[in-house]
Amino acid sequence: MKLIAGGSLLVASACSLIGAPTFTKDVAPILQRECQTCHRPGEAAPFSMLTYESTRPWAAAIKQAVRTGKMPPWFADPRYGHFSNGQSLTADEIKTISDWVDAKAPQGDPKDMPPPVKWVEGWQIGTPDLIYQLPVAYDVPASGVVDYQHIIVPTGFTKDTWVQAAEVRPTDRAVVHHIIAFIREPQSNWFHGQPAGKFFIAPQVKTTEEPDTSALPSDFLVGYAPGQPAEILRPGQAKLIKAGSDIVFQVHYTPNGHPIQDRTRLGLILAKDPPKERVLTLSATNGTFQIPPGDPNYRVDSSFEVSTDVKLSGLHPHMHGRGKDFLYRVVYPTNETQTLLSVPHFNWHWQNWYTLDEPIVLPKGSRIECTAHFDNSPNNPDNADPTRTVPWGEQSWDEMMVGFFNLVFPADLPVEKVLPPKSKAAIASR
Ligand code: HEC
Repeated sequence: MKLIAGGSLLVASACSLIGAPTFTKDVAPILQRECQTCHRPGEAAPFSMLTYESTRPWAAAIKQAVRTGKMPPWFADPRYGHFSNGQSLTADEIKTISDWVDAKAPQGDPKDMPPPVKWVEGWQIGTPDLIYQLPVAYDVPASGVVDYQHIIVPTGFTKDTWVQAAEVRPTDRAVVHHIIAFIREPQSNWFHGQPAGKFFIAPQVKTTEEPDTSALPSDFLVGYAPGQPAEILRPGQAKLIKAGSDIVFQVHYTPNGHPIQDRTRLGLILAKDPPKERVLTLSATNGTFQIPPGDPNYRVDSSFEVSTDVKLSGLHPHMHGRGKDFLYRVVYPTNETQTLLSVPHFNWHWQNWYTLDEPIVLPKGSRIECTAHFDNSPNNPDNADPTRTVPWGEQSWDEMMVGFFNLVFPADLPVEKVLPPKSKAAIASR
């Protein structure tokens, strides 16, 4: 009797599951494609989705995160632009995950599990030819707010060097919010007088001062942040580090309850052959804004006109905690306008690059225009102080309005030929 009763119970529960998605058959393939880049050991996310066992406890949170669009972190309005690195879920994929969670997150037949993705451990760019490690460790305290740290590391390059791939990695991710490795060319006056090899804090800009944005545009090598990939350029393309340049690291440490040391590293893979095309990260920057206290929607614009025919391959909006939305458009010499990227809900915790599916040709005289809005009201939880007039500044309590982009052009073309007339004058006066 008992046996029969048990048997029918089993049948009944199996029946109720018929049609429900299972982890191994339906959910794991989505997680492999859209989530595991970050959700695996050693990467930025707080738990691994490599196995059923590690994923199952998070089922309810996963449903919530995909339904609200919180995960995967991708902020481009789907109506504009096509991006090759975009992680976003289709309506069907969201439904599959939700239905799986609603059916109590069954594992399914282990035989249905897709073969594991072969993730590269350690460096995503492969084994670097050169590694620059911070000459001293930074002692991250257990608590409190750490100002953005800067440190200058000379490259030691005695000749111009072409870089095919670059990656920056903290030694302890748990306390690193973001890192940017900038190239500082020998003639630059950025952080003039700061000794190399020592951590320092960028001086705060006074609202009465003309901000110095001369370091930008031109120096972004590679960044590390949730959502930001290593820079791996296509064959035949490279970034140039001129002889005598320094690397300037900017690191944002976020204490997590334990005192921790970090000694971030930058890995470079050098171009094996002289590249055909140079990739240069430039930006449309506005450094002259003053965001009024309490203003919930303050508009700031910037633009960059190309002085010769080039290609545009990627976009990266950068603002701090008051940043609200960011839009890129291109105005062609014919006055035709095209929206390239719209980020309607900017989130400064994520520093996404948007890599264009296909580079766009920008004929001479085309203008890249950016429009951003800032929320300096008390309703913005990321607003450090709504009573302040906020100027440009490198620290998180000041703001930035930078529309970074990657341009691609013949490797032997001098940069001056690409830059807008205005910045040519600025460089001449340095
Ligand atoms: C670009 C890296 C990245 C990708 C891709 C990504 N995540 Fe995350 N995820 C993170 C990080 C970092 C956190 C922790 C910070 C946070 O919660 O914002 C996180 C947190 C989470 C959390 C915890 C949220 C909470 O409310 O505590 C869930 C659930 C989650 N992710 C699910 C997913 C799912 C499902 C996918 C794929 C569909 C995905 N993530 C893709 C980086 C990523």
